[in-house]
Amino acid sequence: METKIWYVDNPVNKDKVYPQIVDAAKNLQLGQVVAFPTETVYGLGANALSDEAVQRIFQAKGRPSDNPLIVHIANEEQLNDLVEDIPLNAKKLMDAFWPGPLTLILKSKKHVSKFVTAGLSTVGVRMPDHPVALALIESCNLPIAAPSANTSGKPSPTSAKHVYEDLNGRIVGIVDGGNTGVGLESTVIDCSQDVFTILRPGSITPEMIREVITTVEVDPSTMKENEAPKSPGMKYKHYAPDAQMHLVNGDIEFIHKLIHNSQNQGKKIGVLTTEENKTQYKADVVLACGKRSELSTVAASLYDCIRQFNDENVDIIYCETFPYEGIGIAIMNRLWKACGHSIIEQGK
Ligand code: TXA
Ligand code: MG
Repeated sequence: METKIWYVDNPVNKDKVYPQIVDAAKNLQLGQVVAFPTETVYGLGANALSDEAVQRIFQAKGRPSDNPLIVHIANEEQLNDLVEDIPLNAKKLMDAFWPGPLTLILKSKKHVSKFVTAGLSTVGVRMPDHPVALALIESCNLPIAAPSANTSGKPSPTSAKHVYEDLNGRIVGIVDGGNTGVGLESTVIDCSQDVFTILRPGSITPEMIREVITTVEVDPSTMKENEAPKSPGMKYKHYAPDAQMHLVNGDIEFIHKLIHNSQNQGKKIGVLTTEENKTQYKADVVLACGKRSELSTVAASLYDCIRQFNDENVDIIYCETFPYEGIGIAIMNRLWKACGHSIIEQGK
């Protein structure tokens, strides 16, 4: 299968009909799988009401079938077909953050394909804040199930090029709306229990959520080893570079010693740092992902950096840590997983 690219200028003009989007939407209506941009990462979409279409997503990605998918909608009317009842606090979160990078786990209706929910009684729903995604969902007039559009286990794609690298020949097409903004997947919050729980941290932070609904818990497995995650997807090795990656909690001198020792063993070494520190390192490949002084820029380029290390074939990556606050919580969660939970502490 030749994978088509539909280029769409972003921002789209709401009053204009884009033949590329109409074509992509037709493919979705026919049960095909189409990748599209969102404000977080690229999604791999299919009709959420069709078993056959949703199964194609799992085939294209090589995704384990016990990992449920998020359903994307363009307006709140679409919720009626998907979820049973909406708790008042869930409605407040929708009003505050939709369209936007927040996925709500709610009690599902039977219409949704069992392959979307992986047999659970709940379904994850979000309204993406991306004009191309919204235009596509409106144009096909279907709820769209979409995981991140990477091969399972790889970092999520933040550009159409990343999607093409992973899935060329495996899907009918990619709607190319340029690079995504946030760069990390949406915050996932379980709203199916009395006390809501964050299952996956994202750019909508616990503090932002507490401003709207006062109490929210954070699933401890998002940062602790040996805790069973409540979200099926969080247990898999994720976002992983090909090389062994280590988070290093230490100063630059300490990281230099690590680089030196590894190079003496004949290894090719990568360092993941930021603009502020990049000139300080001597390693085989030094990549700056954004600015430490502006953590949203780190989030935006993190996955692209991990993919670049793969292209450079490094053996080991040493990575600086980030403050565990605001979007730093989500950055550290992804890095910690990418490292397979390996943190090297100075002085230990
Ligand atoms: O930003 C995003 O959320 C992106 C874009 C494309 O929207 N999508 C995304 O999907 O990251 P995916 O499939 O890569 O991650 C979905 C996460 C997984 O960890 C999955 O286990 C969890 O959400 N999830 C989905 N439905 C769930 C449910 N009913 N209960 C618990 N966790 C659920
Ligand atoms: Mg994913």
